[in-house]
Amino acid sequence: MTVLVPTMGALHKGHQALIKRARELDKEVVVSIFVNPLQFTEAADLEKYPRTPEADIQIATLAGATEVWFPTYEEIYPNEPVQISAGPIGELYEGASRPGHFAGVLTVVNRLFEIVKPKAAVFGEKDFQQLWLIKNHFKKMEIISVPTIREFDGLALSSRNVRLTESDRNAALIISKALKEPARMAEILATEPEFKLDYADIIDEQNFQIATDATKNKRAIIAGWVNGIRLLDNAVVDTNS
Ligand code: PAF
Repeated sequence: MTVLVPTMGALHKGHQALIKRARELDKEVVVSIFVNPLQFTEAADLEKYPRTPEADIQIATLAGATEVWFPTYEEIYPNEPVQISAGPIGELYEGASRPGHFAGVLTVVNRLFEIVKPKAAVFGEKDFQQLWLIKNHFKKMEIISVPTIREFDGLALSSRNVRLTESDRNAALIISKALKEPARMAEILATEPEFKLDYADIIDEQNFQIATDATKNKRAIIAGWVNGIRLLDNAVVDTNS
C-alpha cells in the first residue's frame, strides 16, 4: 500500500518533512504535484504560482519519495468536476477571503485518493483550516499531519515565499513574531506597515469559533498580504494564555 503526499509543487523543506513522515509509514510514497486550478480564486494567482518541476523531482526523491507524479488536468478531471462542498467551516477565514477555495481543495484531494488509493495521506499543519476540513471530510482515510517547518528566524516555509523580496521577507516576519504573543497579536501586527491584515484570531480548534476561557484547544491563526503575496500561519495557544 502507498502513502500519498499531495502537493502543488515548488517543494521545500516543509514538503520534505511530509515526505519523510510518509516514508516512516510505508516504503511506497507517492508525491503528487498538481497545481489545481479549482482552488484558485484569482487567475493571476494561479498563473504566478511557482512551478519548479526539475527541482521538485530532486527534492522529493532525496526526501524518500518512490514516485513523483505530475498528473495532467485531464487525468484529474476527465469530466466537468462536481465540486465537494466544504460546509460552513469552509466559508470562514481562508474560505471567506477565497470563496470556493476549500471546495476546490476537497475536490482535488478526493480525485487524488480515488486514483492513487493510498492507505494514508500526509498534510502540513501550516494550512490548518485545510487540514481540519480534509480530516473532517475524509473520515475513512488515515490523515497524518506534520508540524510547520520554519526558517531560523521563524518564517513558516511556504511555496509562495520565493516571491518575497528581502524587504518583503523582513515584513513577513511580523506574523511569526505575533504568534509568539497571542494576547497582543493585533497590536504587534499593526507595527508592520508593509503587512496588510486579513485576519488574526484565537479560535477553538474544534469548530473555528472564537476561543473563550472555556476552550480547551486554542489556536492562533493569522493571514494577510505582504506586497500582494498572501501569507498565513498558525500556532497552538497555551490554554492558560
Ligand atoms: O496544500 C496544498 O498544497 C494543496 O492545497 C493540496 C492539498 C495539494 C491540494 O491541491
